[in-house]
Amino acid sequence: MKPPGDNPACKNTGSARDFFPERITLSQLREASKSCRGCDLYCNATQTVFGAGPADAVLMLVGEQPGDQEDLAGKPFVGPAGRILDEALDQAGIDRSKVYVTNAVKHFKFEPRGKRRIHGKPNSREINACRPWLEAEIQLIQPKMIVVMGATAAQSLLGKDFRVTKHRGEVLDGHQWAPWILATVHPSSLLRIPDHDARVQARAAFLHDFKVVARQLKSETLRARLRAAAHEHVRAAPHGHVRSPVDERETTRPAPRRAHVR
Ligand code: URA
Ligand code: SF4
Repeated sequence: MKPPGDNPACKNTGSARDFFPERITLSQLREASKSCRGCDLYCNATQTVFGAGPADAVLMLVGEQPGDQEDLAGKPFVGPAGRILDEALDQAGIDRSKVYVTNAVKHFKFEPRGKRRIHGKPNSREINACRPWLEAEIQLIQPKMIVVMGATAAQSLLGKDFRVTKHRGEVLDGHQWAPWILATVHPSSLLRIPDHDARVQARAAFLHDFKVVARQLKSETLRARLRAAAHEHVRAAPHGHVRSPVDERETTRPAPRRAHVR
């Protein structure tokens, strides 16, 4: 096993975009990503781990990169970090099967150490090379909310200067990717805290962030239901179209901002 990065035998083009299919659909992208050589990381990893989840998901979670087990399974968040994530989602009342889960970088970066493969942090070059896949996933799914977990995901979507520690748990709007973005820590960081009390506290804080996400999405679902009910009421009115305050708000609301693939 060769160490990752700067391997002259690992020819790469510098961008995942060079491997985009002609038709941009989620399944075509997933297929095309299998032969990506946008950066060095394809060389030593087992396979590309593309995002997984329904195409109409309102919530998207973005992690760093696949880990050892994800690399072997070909699916995101199926290992120890995935179990922490599953538990937090479950306790926050969020159904993972309705969530689209992906990573900023789609190949596992590691250092061989004996028989083990030790997780290596993706650098800016790798994050930038891989971003086109993530951008395309966002553009196709158009989630209402994106949760970036950890510094790598935050760097990819919010820039190098964004500090998770500063904005953690805040519902951020005004970004191009989705109406709402929330940054939290990476679930695998919770596995590495040696002190029991500190670990319990960190897991509670992680759960709290997902409760904020659940609340935000619930409030939107409720608003959508009220809008639908108001429209139903107007349609049922015997004397033509009666405008309700909800209609008014609906028609004057600015169009939601949509992510675009550059
Ligand atoms: N960590 C990640 O960031 N993503 C995975 O898929 C697994 C672990
Ligand atoms: Fe392509 Fe991303 Fe894999 Fe690099 S990490 S080869 S850019 S899919």
